[in-house]
Amino acid sequence: MSKFRNLAVVAAVVMSAGIAPALAQDVGAGKKLFKKCVACHAVGPDARNKVGPQLNDLFGRSAGSIEKFKYSKAMKAAAEKGLVWTDDTVAELITKPRKFIKGTKMAFGGLKKEKDRNNIIAYLKTFSTGSETADAAKTKTDDQPEKAATTVTAAPSSRNLPIPQHGVFHLGRKALPEEVNAWDIDIRADGAGLPPGRGTVADGEPLFAENCASCHGDFGEGVDRWPVLAGGHDTLKEDRPVKTIGSYWPYLSTVFDYVRRAMPFGDARSLSDDDVYALTAYLLYVNDIVTDEEFELSRDNFSDIRLPNEANFTADTRKDEPHYAKNSEACMSDCKPGPVKVIMRARVLDVTPEGDDGEGAGPVD
Ligand code: HEC
Ligand code: HEC
Repeated sequence: MSKFRNLAVVAAVVMSAGIAPALAQDVGAGKKLFKKCVACHAVGPDARNKVGPQLNDLFGRSAGSIEKFKYSKAMKAAAEKGLVWTDDTVAELITKPRKFIKGTKMAFGGLKKEKDRNNIIAYLKTFSTGSETADAAKTKTDDQPEKAATTVTAAPSSRNLPIPQHGVFHLGRKALPEEVNAWDIDIRADGAGLPPGRGTVADGEPLFAENCASCHGDFGEGVDRWPVLAGGHDTLKEDRPVKTIGSYWPYLSTVFDYVRRAMPFGDARSLSDDDVYALTAYLLYVNDIVTDEEFELSRDNFSDIRLPNEANFTADTRKDEPHYAKNSEACMSDCKPGPVKVIMRARVLDVTPEGDDGEGAGPVD
């Protein structure tokens, strides 16, 4: 009996918690927080389904109702039971997706802070027609047109350049130095190209939990089929080697470059250089390459770090081998003396996909 009373109390607390903070919602903060979702979800006029369904007009919408999106069985079952997305149900979902819908394929760890959840919900409502917040947000942006334009910012100084006059199509111009610099971010194995900055394992841990763990797991173990980033030592000779930064990668520079260039997946280039140093330090830690949580990685000590498998990569010396040395300059024209004869057809070789007529798509007729 007493058990039930406790339950009732808990339910009451949860309910009041769900209602009260509606007063203090911050759309701007929600927009920032939505970065956590953007790898998988889109909103706005061009929103398409990504890893997850698009989230326009979410409030009042039945769960699992976006056509063409392949929901999990669990989500379909919840939909059949009548789950509709409201402030409360969305809040519960994003608190801990897998607790709310067991077996959902939404691979997201969850938002611990109620304030964060409320802010994201407020932001999502601006894309839900018919919800009060949407209307409120619209009037707000009408009043402040200069603020509303912040999502589409012009490229630095390329906007006002004259239209090129050369060539047939008048297309293309010389890249500006700042444009070249923006692309030129590769880092060499010896550390050349590293930006200034620093970060410790301890700095990296919360960053990883927030930005990476939803796919790669808290310790780099990988969620579902997302890539594993740690472990796999001594598996390289097995039939199914586990190739990770620790077990396989030769150079730490690749880790820094990869994360800075491409992660978090769907929100690339959103991390500061200090963040990337800290995350790289954390990845060293989960791979047991450094063991001190206070270890700080920076440009100064970067090239002192060696990954365990480096020695198993060898330099490409093929050009020194007699066979290749003969013609180290690749032939680019008239390489075959005498007339050219067709000796085999791709259709016969069966290397090309089939065309509509069932024939090879790329025969050499
Ligand atoms: C790693 C990818 C991923 C991330 C990150 C993610 N989601 Fe999802 N989400 C999904 C997938 C996949 C589904 C479909 C779940 C299913 O079918 O079980 C989903 C479903 C949903 C649904 C239900 C939509 C419907 O049509 O029924 C909502 C609402 C939602 N997510 C909100 C969010 C919010 C808000 C965030 C950020 C705080 C977020 N998600 C982060 C992948 C993700
Ligand atoms: C939404 C899911 C998602 C999130 C969040 C994410 N990643 Fe990834 N990560 C991926 C996918 C997918 C790949 C593989 C991409 C490919 O092979 O093209 C990948 C690859 C990587 C790799 C290379 C792994 C290998 O062995 O090839 C590293 C390193 C990495 N991610 C680090 C990070 C870090 C650090 C963060 C957080 C800042 C992060 N990722 C956030 C999905 C994610």
